[in-house]
Amino acid sequence: MLLRAFLLENSQEILNPARMDIDKIRSDYESAGQGQVFRFWDRLDSDQKEQLAAQLAEVDFSEIDRLVATLIKGDGESKTDFDHLQPAPYVPLPQNGGDASRWAEARTVGEEALRAGRVAAFTVAGGQGTRLGYDGPKGTFPVTPIRNATLFQVFAEKILCAGKLYDVAIPWFIMTSRINHEATVSFFEENDFFGLNEDDVIFFSQGMMPAVDFEGKLVLGTPDSLALSPDGHGGSLRALVRSGATAEMKKRGVDIISYFQVDNPLVKVIDPTFVGFHVLEESEMSSKMIPKAYPGEKVGHFTILDEKLTVIEYSDLPSELAEQQDADGRLRFRAGSIAIHMISRDFVERMGGGEGGLPMHRADKKIGVADDEGVSRKPDAPNGVKFEMFVFDALPEAKNPIVIETDRDEDFSPVKNAEGLDSPETCRRDLLRQYARWLKDVGVDVPVDENGVPDRVFEMTPLRGFDRESFAENPENEGLSLPEPDQVL
Ligand code: UTP
Repeated sequence: MLLRAFLLENSQEILNPARMDIDKIRSDYESAGQGQVFRFWDRLDSDQKEQLAAQLAEVDFSEIDRLVATLIKGDGESKTDFDHLQPAPYVPLPQNGGDASRWAEARTVGEEALRAGRVAAFTVAGGQGTRLGYDGPKGTFPVTPIRNATLFQVFAEKILCAGKLYDVAIPWFIMTSRINHEATVSFFEENDFFGLNEDDVIFFSQGMMPAVDFEGKLVLGTPDSLALSPDGHGGSLRALVRSGATAEMKKRGVDIISYFQVDNPLVKVIDPTFVGFHVLEESEMSSKMIPKAYPGEKVGHFTILDEKLTVIEYSDLPSELAEQQDADGRLRFRAGSIAIHMISRDFVERMGGGEGGLPMHRADKKIGVADDEGVSRKPDAPNGVKFEMFVFDALPEAKNPIVIETDRDEDFSPVKNAEGLDSPETCRRDLLRQYARWLKDVGVDVPVDENGVPDRVFEMTPLRGFDRESFAENPENEGLSLPEPDQVL
């Protein structure tokens, strides 16, 4: 029986208008040089005035001033000491020289943690997916070759499959933003939560940040609203705490959070081995790396900076370092970050509680702003700055952070762009390649080309296995035969 969805709201409530002193708010804004936000005031009705005033009352001027000074005007910008930057160590896969017995032990330990109900899945799905240009929450984007199953469905089926194997209900926390929250929840309701128990799918919204123009002035998206945008995937740490999600985890006995992004259907939503390494190392935040395919590949780099594990974004690493090779001719800074982490609940509570938190970054974006007539228009080129936090900025604060290698083909093929690299097309191809590999493991030889792409289009549901090992070990997959074109196994 389906129960009502458990919905957590971010506690950043709109302030009660009755308590607002609009004259005071207006004079504060004018003295801060931000009076332009009252540009349409005289044309607003009383509800609109209340809405805008409530937003304005929430803005933390000192934070905006500090961000404008550091990120836009460039004062006091800290410079990375690239001279002393070192590549971060990582645990290689057994096939790349890692200790196979350690990997096997990690899987056993991770499976125990899963069976004990210590692990929750966590998807950050609050982004706006502007590059894909899809109208709707990105998780509702169809990705699989035959069923056109959406990203959310693929994750749900992996969670169902792992839950069945470990005989446990694995809770799934999904972070939305105010922009896509309703649409996300409705999508799950319309699809009966893809077979999951509604109580075990927990939605909450992340915080929003006001955008500014290149002069640091707050901008209006519409006459009665600031241009607001989600505060980045790093906003997940404070949203997990503020929404009550971590308290809910505690109640359920969950102390390990399997963090992944909404746009990667290959991701091992549940990865016992990764859980096991996290537990064995007593790590507060663990990460997966893939060796970068080429120096300019757009993934962050795991490095050691001031003795701390630090991700340096691809755009920030000087090209001479990105291209440097080690004695074996491999890229020296090869450990690429693919935004997959195991995070301890305690660590989230420490990092996401209080006023502190992660640093903000600047993202120059096309921001829809109200023109002189009050009509919201999106420009063709970036016209302002959004402020975002990045989850990997928590790593330097984590105790015993560990990085393990993963097989790109089994964990990473994001849908970022409408076409070309990291697009629905590359993702579909990578799913097909995965199906063929997994079938080969159980004795079914699907003819493939030199890139491992099968000669036919078919599909396998994640209900048969949430990862390669669980697929191979599932007795139901014994006796499978060569799939027909268009067949769903
Ligand atoms: P991206 O960096 O790819 O951003 O997010 P995006 O907003 O989805 O897409 P573009 O850049 O506009 O094309 C990586 C992951 O972080 C989540 C996204 O939903 C995605 O899973 N994210 C990003 C959030 O949850 N909140 C944010 O504020 C930003």
